[in-house]
Amino acid sequence: MKNPYGDMDPEAFRSAAHEVADQIADYLKELESYAVLPDIQPGDVKSAIPGHPPELPQAWDDILRDYRNLVQPNITHWQHPGFMAYFPSVASGPGILGEWLAAGLNSNVMFWRNAPASTEVEERTVEWLRSMLGLPDLFDGMLTDTASVSSLLSITAARHAVPGLDAREKGLAGTALPGRLRLYQSEEAHMTIDKAAIVTGVGLEGIRKIPADENYCMRPELLDAAIREDRKNGWVPFCVVGTLGTTSSTSVDPSAALADICEREKLWLHLDAAYAGTAALAEEFRHHFAGWERADSIVVNPHKWMFTPFDASLLLFRDRDQFRDTFSLVPEYIRTPDTGEVHNFNEYGVQLGRRFRALKLWMMIRYFGSDGMAERIRHHVSMAQEMRSWIEAEPDWEMLAPTPFATLCFRYAPQGVDDPDALNESIMGKVNKSGDIFLSHTKLRGRYTIRVSIGNPRQTMDHVRRCWELLKEAAS
Ligand SMILES: Cc1ncc(COP(=O)(O)O)c(C=O)c1O
Repeated sequence: MKNPYGDMDPEAFRSAAHEVADQIADYLKELESYAVLPDIQPGDVKSAIPGHPPELPQAWDDILRDYRNLVQPNITHWQHPGFMAYFPSVASGPGILGEWLAAGLNSNVMFWRNAPASTEVEERTVEWLRSMLGLPDLFDGMLTDTASVSSLLSITAARHAVPGLDAREKGLAGTALPGRLRLYQSEEAHMTIDKAAIVTGVGLEGIRKIPADENYCMRPELLDAAIREDRKNGWVPFCVVGTLGTTSSTSVDPSAALADICEREKLWLHLDAAYAGTAALAEEFRHHFAGWERADSIVVNPHKWMFTPFDASLLLFRDRDQFRDTFSLVPEYIRTPDTGEVHNFNEYGVQLGRRFRALKLWMMIRYFGSDGMAERIRHHVSMAQEMRSWIEAEPDWEMLAPTPFATLCFRYAPQGVDDPDALNESIMGKVNKSGDIFLSHTKLRGRYTIRVSIGNPRQTMDHVRRCWELLKEAAS
């Protein structure tokens, strides 16, 4: 007999799932029939959804129809090959399938006992990723949701490593440190590090931003001087954050020089390679990261340039015990009899419940192969380099930063223009109105900078050419 209190019937689920599979496949096939940016105003979608939830069950067909008409057309299409804004965040086919299967299992990867296969797939996937990036097996790690959280956990572990602080037990208010904690990062670092400073009690005033050189890379000699000066003034330096692939210009801080300083000064080195770390899949780009194997913790985001459905952030750490000592609490209700070399992943971070993120990555890596993934990265970099050569060939356009990876920073700067910032803002606005391409901007040395970030396996030179065509049209 049918259970009136039960879930969707498995056969009803089967037929709905087939429809959903068709829906997703059609979406991916017809992506380019959408404008990358929907023509929509704030409140348009919400006003089409009733203010009250339905009291009675609704037919699946009606629900899916509303998804089709209201949701799908009104998102900004991150999957679209014309999406060249910010950094790529693209879901590949095998990644989507893995995500879907993980939803079916609903495995909660807290600890080995209640997620044995999921835990071990995560362990193996982390090992695969580490070796695909060319990093030594000194690093252990796990998957988190975002770089924001990976960096927060790393900075908390760095704080835990400060001798005599013991903030884990005493809290910051109860500590007897002689001075305030100091964290260093370049002026180009991502704001997620500032947020980590807010949460860990370091505070925004506890951050010292080190000036960058003409290529937007941190100047290690100024870091060195800053640490010495701070020590004299009673600060307690504890952590340096280097960025490998900054958000504005993709500049790369010098890992080896930072590691030298951190080793000498006994400071924790955290490297934020959220975007550019993926470039290390291809051996010829690894020179950008020389020395990163000396870091205490590293974050690389597969959900950025590694075609992995959001969310998935790879956090690697050198000292597994350090991370576990920072976060581990094992009350009776989660104690299990299992012993041995398994990870109970909740002990390495703040989350108890954790998604089974490794499944999509494990499937995707197998589907493309590590060589196939590296080839895609090479292709993106070569498309970006080609576009750079077009920009450099035009006297009225100006590159504003080097292009070590697949993100370009430039502007239109013909002689005699009064307000190049306003001009470039309006050029980008026109390109974005086209529906074919979506770009975003930053400011470099105070100058309005248009950014083009390539990194979608669906992108071809046709999309890059279209982007350049639209830019030139808008400029003229
Ligand atoms: C260098 C860098 N670090 C961190 C982040 C934050 O990433 P997430 O959204 O995964 O927290 C970004 C986002 O673009 C980034 O570019």
